[in-house]
Amino acid sequence: MFQRIGKSEGSVVISVDGARVTAQAGDTVAAALLAAGLTSTRTTPVSGAPRAPYCMMGVCFECLVTIDDVGNRQACLIPVSEGMRVEMQKGKREAGR
Ligand code: FES
Repeated sequence: MFQRIGKSEGSVVISVDGARVTAQAGDTVAAALLAAGLTSTRTTPVSGAPRAPYCMMGVCFECLVTIDDVGNRQACLIPVSEGMRVEMQKGKREAGR
C-alpha cells in the first residue's frame, strides 16, 4: 500500500504488541507501523471500531498508541527509537498513563 521514497538513514528495531518490527531511522512511529503493514493503530472507546493514522501531522488524533507504557501518544509526531515498545491502544486510556 505504501512505498518509500528516498534513501534509508539506517534501521531501528521496535516492538509492536510484542512483535519485532524493523523501521527506518527517522520514521515516525505512525510511518513505521504503516510501512510494516498494520491497518489500524487503535480502537474507539465507544464502538471499538478500528482507527488508523490519517493526517500524519498531529491534527486528527486517529493515531493514538501506547509508547513505553505511556498512553495517548500521537504516533505521527514521535520518531522511532531503538527498543521502543509500541502497543495498539484499545479504547480510552487515562491521561498520563
Ligand atoms: S495521524 Fe492525525 S494526529 Fe496522528
